[in-house]
Amino acid sequence: MVQTKRWNLQDDQLYNEKAIEEAAHMLMSGSLVAFPTETVYGLGADATSEQAVRKIFAAKGRPQDNPLIAHVATKRQLKALVTELPLYVEKLIDAFSPGPITYVLPSNGSCAQNVTAGLATVAVRIPSHPVALQLMEACDRPIAAPSANISGKPSPTTADHVWDDLSGKIAGLIDGGPTGVGMESTVLDCTKEQPLILRPGAITKEAIQQVSRMNVNSAQDIHPSKPPSPGMKYKHYTPEVSLWLVSGTPREINIIIDQEKRKGKRVGVMAQDETIKHLSADHKVSLGNNINEVATHLYDTLRSFKLSDVDLIICETFPEVGIGQAVMNRLRKAASKYI
Ligand code: TXA
Ligand code: MG
Repeated sequence: MVQTKRWNLQDDQLYNEKAIEEAAHMLMSGSLVAFPTETVYGLGADATSEQAVRKIFAAKGRPQDNPLIAHVATKRQLKALVTELPLYVEKLIDAFSPGPITYVLPSNGSCAQNVTAGLATVAVRIPSHPVALQLMEACDRPIAAPSANISGKPSPTTADHVWDDLSGKIAGLIDGGPTGVGMESTVLDCTKEQPLILRPGAITKEAIQQVSRMNVNSAQDIHPSKPPSPGMKYKHYTPEVSLWLVSGTPREINIIIDQEKRKGKRVGVMAQDETIKHLSADHKVSLGNNINEVATHLYDTLRSFKLSDVDLIICETFPEVGIGQAVMNRLRKAASKYI
């Protein structure tokens, strides 16, 4: 056990600057620090140190064959990690980075080999959250950072989620408030002639297509049963309570809820405002007013259901447009049943 130092950032600019400086120092001396990004909280380590990166796998209980994303502050730093940068990736970087997109590119070996899990490619992202950017700038080195949760739990969207999972196991945690997007970044394989989406996120296929002027495929469409990257074979986001995805009208969803209630189960539901007002369950949590709000609140809501409250969570389905693609991708991974 270590004592986890927590910095609560506020409006005090001087305090914030000092906190980021201290956190950068911790990272550079080989310790783990969790920090906010615009997507989810990340668990950072010096990506050039195999020893520091090893601590990430230990703290999260993460399988060794699941590679990590290297986070940098600038395009120049990104270029320093790869052997080549196709023209279309330059265009994508100019359009979307800093932002919620990760590029998988041929690695030049600058990152420790456990960052890439021994692959010839490296995943690189420039986060747009000001705290993450300032931290990356202060380190002047790539920072390996997976989501800052225990493997198998939903990604953390608040510092309290990180604290629940990792306090006592990591050196530091920067609390920069709740993250905005709520879904992990789009992971784009840029090693082939055409870009391939390995994990959908806030930067959509349509947006990538428009900027790159290329045909973009999603790995899940081409090989629905094959994991697009080594890490994606794992069933992420397993909630504590079993989750059923139910498509249909509120009336149809109510029929399923009633069936389960009659079996003596306490049923929880999560759905958008518009749907939830028509549902009759033991415990109701709204995911918000639109699909962006659903993305922002999904993980927090999943974490909020406890086995003591309900025996089953029922969630409505969402149209797979925009960030709805990412939301449905995560929900399908979390669900034990799709009705
Ligand atoms: O938004 C995000 O991407 C967050 C924040 C913290 O930046 N990070 C994140 O990291 O979600 P993580 O480790 O939870 O997910 C990274 C995903 C994994 O599915 C991993 O398998 C994939 O990226 N990945 C990493 N390196 C790869 C590579 N070289 N080739 C293919 N997939 C890779
Ligand atoms: Mg993760």
